[in-house]
Amino acid sequence: MPVTDIYDEQYVASLFDRMSSTYGVANYLTSFGFTERWRKRCVAMINWRAENICCYDLMSGMGEIWVSVMAASPQSTKIIGIDISTEMNARAMDQIIDNPDRKLSILTANALDSDIPDGVADVIVSSFGLKTFSDPQLKILAAEVARILRPGGQFSFIEISKPPNPVLRTLLMFYLKYIVPLIGYFFMKDATSYRMLGVYTVSYGNSEGFCTYLREAGLTTTYVSDFFGCATGARGHKPKV
Ligand SMILES: C[S@@+](CC[C@H](N)C(=O)[O-])C[C@H]1O[C@@H](n2cnc3c(N)ncnc32)[C@H](O)[C@@H]1O
Repeated sequence: MPVTDIYDEQYVASLFDRMSSTYGVANYLTSFGFTERWRKRCVAMINWRAENICCYDLMSGMGEIWVSVMAASPQSTKIIGIDISTEMNARAMDQIIDNPDRKLSILTANALDSDIPDGVADVIVSSFGLKTFSDPQLKILAAEVARILRPGGQFSFIEISKPPNPVLRTLLMFYLKYIVPLIGYFFMKDATSYRMLGVYTVSYGNSEGFCTYLREAGLTTTYVSDFFGCATGARGHKPKV
């Protein structure tokens, strides 16, 4: 039997295509509001004071972070979501329709290999899109962040992570491995897809490795940790030359 490469881009895209009809509800039910808090925290890491900011949301899903970006930034801010899943993007369209007074758009693309021009982004944000990348892919992503950002541009990433405290880690892993798939099964009849979120989180660990890759790519980077390391990420900027 062939071994499935869980980091294959097409595998990941079809996983999220399948989950798209239930991801929003499942995310809300299973996170007890933590994911929303962490998205807000991710957005709060950025200085949004300028006008006409060009903000890329990588691995944008259904545009879940856009509400927080819109609340924090001037109306002139342009938000461009990038996601590989056509079904997630179709659902992000609802947000575009619901916010005609804001400049929102989506690009169906692989964030590791996109046509986004060099140096166009004032800001890059990303919530919960790191775990489905392997270590080599995270390195490529870091280089892409450095390429897309303009000098002086800011970035902020957040991801669910394995906390260092063994008790908390055991509880969180039990929850991700068994409870989330159970909720996935009862509410969405899809335990298998939701079980994968736990598999990816275990393998991701935390954002230290990604921070190293961002620094290697020339970005000024600070490691971010919330709720005893249950969410970690990276924030920083591209130095002006
Ligand atoms: C867990 S969801 C996160 C969605 C959203 N950002 C949030 O806050 O909930 C991860 C998203 O990353 C997307 N994704 C995974 N690999 C990708 C890639 N190589 N390029 C672009 N999007 C990708 C998936 O399609 C999915 O919509």
